[in-house]
Amino acid sequence: MRPPPVIQEDLAAIAETIGSAAQELAGKTVLISGGAGFLGRYFLGVFAHLNRRTLGQPCRVISADNYITGDRDGAFGVNDDPNVLSLWADVTLPLPVREPVDYIIHAAGLASPVYYQRYPLETIESAVLGAKNLLELGRRNALKSFLLFSSSEIYGDPDPRSVPTPETYCGNVSSVGPRACYDESKRLAETLSIVYHQQFGVPVKIVRPFNVYGPGMRPDDRRVMPTFGLRTLRGESLPVHGDGHQTRTFCYITDALTGFLKALLAGRPGEAYNVGNDDQEITMGELASLFAEIGGTGARVETMSYPDTYPAGEPQRRCPDLKKIRTQLGYEPKVRLREGVLRFLQWASQEPAYMGKTIAERAPADAAPARTQAA
Ligand SMILES: NC(=O)c1ccc[n+]([C@@H]2O[C@H](COP(=O)([O-])OP(=O)(O)OC[C@H]3O[C@@H](n4cnc5c(N)ncnc54)[C@H](O)[C@@H]3O)[C@@H](O)[C@H]2O)c1
Repeated sequence: MRPPPVIQEDLAAIAETIGSAAQELAGKTVLISGGAGFLGRYFLGVFAHLNRRTLGQPCRVISADNYITGDRDGAFGVNDDPNVLSLWADVTLPLPVREPVDYIIHAAGLASPVYYQRYPLETIESAVLGAKNLLELGRRNALKSFLLFSSSEIYGDPDPRSVPTPETYCGNVSSVGPRACYDESKRLAETLSIVYHQQFGVPVKIVRPFNVYGPGMRPDDRRVMPTFGLRTLRGESLPVHGDGHQTRTFCYITDALTGFLKALLAGRPGEAYNVGNDDQEITMGELASLFAEIGGTGARVETMSYPDTYPAGEPQRRCPDLKKIRTQLGYEPKVRLREGVLRFLQWASQEPAYMGKTIAERAPADAAPARTQAA
């Protein structure tokens, strides 16, 4: 099945921006964990696109996912590609991969705050044990590159003087707070990866994404973009917690995937890179208004206090310093927020999952008040 038109355009745009660097992948084997997640499915789509259009010799892709939050639907055109293999596998256990592997991407994890709070142990284990198992596998192979998915959350709630936040900022993170299972396990996965690089020469590159969004996000994902998207399309209220002044920057999926692939193919071993968009730091209130305005469905912004279940310690500002990835890897985000939100809504408006039941019908236990996470 061919992907929806918006996603086909996205895959083509990513392939075009990567250009001839993609040839590195010809005839190689890539193992990706979390291949059924939001970012993982785009990776698979890009590899399948490259196999169809660009590479003289296809790359072989093994996707390992335990579907704890992932999507079993093999959309994005990968079902037609015999070189892409999707397997059930839990990365907290050693993976029985016997064939040689050239690239490893560790993207498995619990990325949405609602889910990492529901599954804190699984969050820690997928980050730390997952990294350990994949690094061990990497150590036994003549690996070209290992890409670890960390997060901008490792910076915690940064000192205002360190926003935009460079890779050198050490972070302001609680080891016992409600977000610690995610933030601290990502930090330890980074440390583990650096040790494997230093001790065993595993060519580790770390990416720290800053709020990536785009088509393919599940409506029940509970991150802010799909939540606002779902509620906008249904003409429901757009909940903004507190004073709505907390800010984020949002990076459209084509820019983010380009950054991740650049880090995978050309990043310097042992280095961490911010990947995001520094163009528009926006408050949650402004973001909700943008959705309401673009959607034109009558959805209205509603300010409300934080529910008791809302995790404390929400970072007040989040904006990447992109100097390092710009200068070292020639990364440049191109998609402005309005265009990205338009593309996202264009895709979602064609998706039965977004246009079907209301939030209350979908998940009564979680429905009121809708907890919009600024992640
Ligand atoms: N999307 C973002 O904006 C963002 C920002 C910062 C960091 N990240 C990180 O990037 C990675 C991918 O993010 P995403 O948005 O695609 O997340 P996602 O939640 O959509 O996908 C993660 C995938 O990992 C799978 N998974 C979880 N535990 C697993 C395990 N033990 N074994 C195998 N599979 C497992 C899930 O089933 C899911 O398919 C995550 O590690 C996330 O923490 C993403």
